[in-house]
Amino acid sequence: MSLFIKKPLSHLMAEADDTEKGMKRTLGAGALIALGIGAIIGAGLFVRTAAAAAEHAGPSVTFGFIIAAIGCAFAGLCYAELSSSIPIAGSAYTYSYATMGELVAWIIGWDLVLEYAVGAATVGIAWSEYLNNLLTNVLHVGAIPYEWCHSPFQVSDGGVHGWINLPALFIIVVLTFLLIRGTHESALVNNLIVITKVAIVVLVIVLGWGFMTTENHTPYIPEVTKFTNESGISHTFGGFWGIIGAAGVVFFAFIGFDAVSTAAQEAKNPSRDMPIGILGSLLICTILYILFAHVLTGIAPVEFFRTQGKEASVAAAINTYMTGYGWLGKFITVAILAGFSSVILVMLLGQSRVFYSMSRDGLLPTRFSALHPKFKTPYKANLFVMIIVGLFAAFVPGDVVGDMSSIGTLFAFILVCAGVIILRKTEPDLPRRFKTPWVPLVPILGILFCLLMIIGLGWVNWLRLFAWLALGFIIYFGYSKKHSKLRNMEENQK
Ligand code: ALA
Repeated sequence: MSLFIKKPLSHLMAEADDTEKGMKRTLGAGALIALGIGAIIGAGLFVRTAAAAAEHAGPSVTFGFIIAAIGCAFAGLCYAELSSSIPIAGSAYTYSYATMGELVAWIIGWDLVLEYAVGAATVGIAWSEYLNNLLTNVLHVGAIPYEWCHSPFQVSDGGVHGWINLPALFIIVVLTFLLIRGTHESALVNNLIVITKVAIVVLVIVLGWGFMTTENHTPYIPEVTKFTNESGISHTFGGFWGIIGAAGVVFFAFIGFDAVSTAAQEAKNPSRDMPIGILGSLLICTILYILFAHVLTGIAPVEFFRTQGKEASVAAAINTYMTGYGWLGKFITVAILAGFSSVILVMLLGQSRVFYSMSRDGLLPTRFSALHPKFKTPYKANLFVMIIVGLFAAFVPGDVVGDMSSIGTLFAFILVCAGVIILRKTEPDLPRRFKTPWVPLVPILGILFCLLMIIGLGWVNWLRLFAWLALGFIIYFGYSKKHSKLRNMEENQK
């Protein structure tokens, strides 16, 4: 039977009735923008920006943000069409099962593990950096020993080897148990976190502006040289490819904005509110990100972010270069810890939903779709996700998981853009509450921008993506294909 067996749309609609009963159309454009901002500002800005400047582009990391934002805008418009035509809360996995068939759906679902699970691990590791900063610079109780808060692949300047990142593991475990208990952030908490996050970004921009120096910004686009990271891997620093490499890295800062697209069924007026929600939150974040990156690279030299300012970089830069603003460094540390927790929560939730759907379809063991008898949450999926995310968070360096998450999400976006073009041909009459403008131009541009960033991330990351997909194929052909409910149902009907 074909690998491209498709879930009939009528099945999806029935599932939608089943699971999404009573979903109300309550979100206006403003609420969608808040949702987007709440989901995206996190480790990408507060940790990966400095890394992209240090390792790829210096101050011109700001151009990297522009390229990443353009790619996201095109892909976001495609995401919105898919999610508004198939009215089931879900993700690219669900949409692709109906449009491009089981194998592509599996690839996307497997790939989304990189976006959500590996992304959650990245933010968990960033949380660990800022926790250390809290203990050292705010509470003054001393740092956690290096070996207990770094992966075995990291070595300190003093030659100490990491063993395990315990704080990153800790936050993942705590948030998983919160999710299992069914704790959803209330709209109030979410709004408070959004306001706090935006406030700290604006404070850094406004207060840091006067501390920028021309030396730190000269040259704005560094000369092309080689940069060798701590694992001994070299790549281009500076010039055009430095900017593209930086775009791939800071793309992480935009991950999560697709949360807006998946809320299409809850939007009051999708055809008007979705583009405003997606493009609005992207635009606001992009402007904030560019200004923030401009200020950050203006107050500290690139060399700082390669050495003492490598971890908890924003607080480190403020404490070192913004004399008199110690309070800002402290405030930011506390706010960032709270802000990161909310991003991790959203990602863990997203991942467990994807696993839950895949297990209901039989592509993963059906026990993962069991609901907790009391809390009615997919607790087995949550625990399984916790183990995967926990392993990444505890034993892999933040740079590696951050770039893996970027490349995986970029690949998923490419498939989503292609999906829009395919679905327009194969299902021209499907009612679409939101239509991507200028098809196929917008999806094609989305594919090209995402591809450019994938190229910028370099061959080591291509290999990682390839290895991840190869592992996915082994699982699909070894397990999922045999256990697929849809496939077994169709075979029984013959
Ligand atoms: N965009 C999210 C972050 O930067 C994933 O943490």
